[in-house]
Amino acid sequence: MANTNKEKPSLTTLPAYKKLQKHFAQVSQLHMRRLFSVDPQRVNKYSIEYNGLFLDYSKNRISHETIPLLCELAKEADLESWRERMFSGEKINNTEGRAVLHTALRNRTNTPIMVDGEDIMPMINSTIDKMDAFSEKVRKGSWKGYTGKKITNIVNVGIGGSDLGPKMVYEALTPYHHKRLSVNFISNVDGAHIDQSLEKLNPETTLFVISSKTFTTQETLTNAHVAREWFLQSAVDEAHISKHFVAVSTNREGVIKFGIDPENMFEFWDWVGGRYSLWSAIGLSVVLAVGMKKFKKMLSGAHSMDQHFREAPLEQNMPVILAMLGIWYNNFFEAESYGIFPYDHYLRSLTMYLEQADMESNGKSVDRDGRKVDYATGPIIWGMSGINGQHAFYQSIHQGTKMIPSDFIVSMLTHSTHQDQHNIMFANALAQTEALMRGRNFDETLADIKASDADLGDIEKRIHHMVFEGNHPTNTILIRKLTPRTLGMLLALYEHKIFVQGIVWNLNSFDQWGVELGKQLTKTILEDIDQPYEVRSHDGSTNTLINYYRDVIGV
Ligand code: F6P
Repeated sequence: MANTNKEKPSLTTLPAYKKLQKHFAQVSQLHMRRLFSVDPQRVNKYSIEYNGLFLDYSKNRISHETIPLLCELAKEADLESWRERMFSGEKINNTEGRAVLHTALRNRTNTPIMVDGEDIMPMINSTIDKMDAFSEKVRKGSWKGYTGKKITNIVNVGIGGSDLGPKMVYEALTPYHHKRLSVNFISNVDGAHIDQSLEKLNPETTLFVISSKTFTTQETLTNAHVAREWFLQSAVDEAHISKHFVAVSTNREGVIKFGIDPENMFEFWDWVGGRYSLWSAIGLSVVLAVGMKKFKKMLSGAHSMDQHFREAPLEQNMPVILAMLGIWYNNFFEAESYGIFPYDHYLRSLTMYLEQADMESNGKSVDRDGRKVDYATGPIIWGMSGINGQHAFYQSIHQGTKMIPSDFIVSMLTHSTHQDQHNIMFANALAQTEALMRGRNFDETLADIKASDADLGDIEKRIHHMVFEGNHPTNTILIRKLTPRTLGMLLALYEHKIFVQGIVWNLNSFDQWGVELGKQLTKTILEDIDQPYEVRSHDGSTNTLINYYRDVIGV
């Protein structure tokens, strides 16, 4: 395997890390209320605006020394040189010997990018052209199904990065959808998912996009075969498949073996990681729904964030700041999780998408040199649409015992006609970050109770439950308006945040060996389910569960 890295000193031995430990001891007890009263304008220092995105990171537990020290740490971790290695196509995915070039997919300036001595831009552009031509035919209705009808429904069959990215973007770009076309996403191998989706569809007007980087993923291939059988029950003749099945993959042989005409295959390459693939042909379902023009705008938005990430000084660099603040809480405050709360209905699947992007990238305990790490790496990423979360789990963020740093992502201009509702949502988002920062101390709580109609006799019993300590860190990311362009920027922002953290933690953020063992054991257990004898080859728990299942299903 290519090893592009000389062994790095461990993170905890870096001089900046040691300085940060000392600094942490000095500032960890500071309350943000105090920081705001000392410097009411701290938002001017701790905010960055770039092309329609505004990051306010002033509600963090940082003093004037924190960001410079965190940036010093990023420098000592050699971030700037790793960043260039990624953009220029070096094989920084060292365990798989691959380049990491999702940024090339959105390289709208078209400057040559070399992999193994070959400029990859022409092949990227030719796939974009192929997607463009195909999607235009479907959108205009000149691509006809086997009975001559226009396509009305698209079904993306895929899982992980071949599902979460396109699904999230499809939802996010709802206002831009083609009126005739709607897209369903089938990922779960639970037959209920595909049954429920196909139930409503007409094979004559349905187009399946089988999306799988490897074209070996069990869940996807199983669902794709079910879809094929369902289609053939009506269409009968296999020759009709070419009008209703297309594939997106890096595996041409696998696609042919499945029975999809390679003419109907949209290619991408091994230097695109699964969870970074929505910019590639994996975005085909999105292109079908919103058109290539809009898709290119999303690519341009991401490209502009790439440029910002590549060029802005570390202290004014949005992804770097988000990443290093994450490290501040993860490695110094020992926060174990990180909340992402979009206040935009169209971004409701963003957190789920980022769970994969972040946790599959940085949920690792061995560094890129193969050494067990002695520091915390990727946090647990979680969340949901913020407004719904408020009525579900925010209690714990406000008054629980865990520190949960979080991002509040809020769109300012709404696509809806209900401006009043939008104001309510906006006010809610800001009310949360304000409350999380300030809290409400004993005296304020007492005053609030006195000012209300509450029965004062009960105060002593309740007041301690009503005090908010505050001092919970949040970032607020304001999006001027959720458009293809700002969406592209937002997604690239998080991708680069994850990259920066991976570099500081000295991880290879681009492999995912941790998903392999389960896949392997699934095969064995699947075979065991059908054995004619009692299963005894696993541990006691697993044997019992398999045998119990066999009894129930009557094997
Ligand atoms: O099992 C994890 C994973 O490999 C992800 O990294 C990937 O996004 C997903 O499976 C789907 O893989 P594929 O696109 O090859 O079907």
